[in-house]
Amino acid sequence: MEKAEFVVVANRLPVDHATGEDGEPSWGRSPGGLVTALDPVMRQADGAWVGWVGKPDLDIEPFEIDGTHLVPVRLSAEDVELYYEGFSNDTIWPLYHDVISPPRYRRVWWEAYQRVNRRFADAAAEAAAVGAVVWVQDYQLQLVPQMLRESRPDLTIGYFHHIPFPAYGLFSQLPWRRQVLQGLLGADVIGFQRVADAGNFARAVRRQLRYDTKASGITVPNDDGTTRRALAKAFPISIDAASYIELARRADVRARADEIRASLGNPKQILLGVDRLDYTKGIRHRMKAYGELLDDGRLGVEDVTLVQVASPSRERVEAYVQLRDEIELMVGRVNGDHDTMDHTAIRYLHQNYPREEMVALYLAADVMLVTALRDGMNLVAKEYVAARVDNRGVLVLSEFAGASDELGSAIRINPHDIGGLKDAIMRAIEMPAAEQGRRMRALRRRVLDHTVEDWSRDFLDALDAFHEQEQSQ
Ligand code: G6P
Repeated sequence: MEKAEFVVVANRLPVDHATGEDGEPSWGRSPGGLVTALDPVMRQADGAWVGWVGKPDLDIEPFEIDGTHLVPVRLSAEDVELYYEGFSNDTIWPLYHDVISPPRYRRVWWEAYQRVNRRFADAAAEAAAVGAVVWVQDYQLQLVPQMLRESRPDLTIGYFHHIPFPAYGLFSQLPWRRQVLQGLLGADVIGFQRVADAGNFARAVRRQLRYDTKASGITVPNDDGTTRRALAKAFPISIDAASYIELARRADVRARADEIRASLGNPKQILLGVDRLDYTKGIRHRMKAYGELLDDGRLGVEDVTLVQVASPSRERVEAYVQLRDEIELMVGRVNGDHDTMDHTAIRYLHQNYPREEMVALYLAADVMLVTALRDGMNLVAKEYVAARVDNRGVLVLSEFAGASDELGSAIRINPHDIGGLKDAIMRAIEMPAAEQGRRMRALRRRVLDHTVEDWSRDFLDALDAFHEQEQSQ
């Protein structure tokens, strides 16, 4: 394969592996905000994407799909257990989401994390041309920037952190906190979702490593006594808004929205939650508030239905197994108490759907509930807004989701305040059309003016400018 001038390194490749009837591998799109976000960028740039195919023990040669070179990194079943399920999703994920679930600090997981990060770094170094730009993605690969800088000082290295970066008091729990900070500081530009995340990172660097930080610049000492600079800054991610608008205008998708409404018994109001089944998403808080509104008689099951799509995620990690049980118990209770033969309180779907169906659901939903306890960005909030080409619908949005910084015209809530959440749901349900329109137009302006293409351009321009500036020093 020819060496690439632009390389993305992410835990996952932007495709899913399946075996066709003929026994040959076939490839479909893989789920997840990250994949959706980078897809348009990779189609345009003639780049290579280094990542895992999503299943253990598969040896697959590099291949090409839609003009992108894909470079699979092999993970054994043990790597998946220790690096992916263990350190990435049972240590870093809960720690970085404000310890909503207790993080587990296991030394064998850390060993595996280092080993697998090295494998990704080696694959990226192999794929990259001299002087190439390499863009490392997310918390599974925090050591890759430094590893790459050591093996390939010719590269320009960017890193984007899609999830929150926690406050210092929490981050400092991590037994390997210094190594993780050093790993990230291998990048020229380290991007975060929120200004607060970049601030938390800079503070951790000051407190742990005693490096100087000034505005978004960090002075990093080299081994030879000289120094270099790195930039830590917010670049809020977005969505491919045009594709949602296009779907929302399609006659078949609109017809499907009507059909969904009818199949729920034509309730006056449809509330919607769309999440990966994850403890960070506040699904229980949402159901608690909604269940109480039904108990109190402020809502009636004839008039309202909550559709909750919870897509399966990380199903072998214990905290996720437990959460699923808790949610399904709650759904059963609420429905058992309130359903009639014709109407259901919660239509719960533990499934994945194609984008067409999601847009039809967005169009059918009068109120979108995003009640995350902590979330890097939450692209669902932006997808809902983009899909509402009719300027209708109300977004209820947690202030603990990154999207809250940009989407000030949503009804913003604290999901821990169940009383406040109940009032916000009622306010959303009762909101007059004129106010819905005014708010939705303001939300749409932001989402349409700042798409995922703007995000990647802003990041890559900043990376380029910063590198140039450093070279000329
Ligand atoms: C979040 C993370 C991504 C991850 C996605 C799906 O959006 O920021 O890095 O890919 O969740 O999770 P999974 O563990 O299935 O890759």
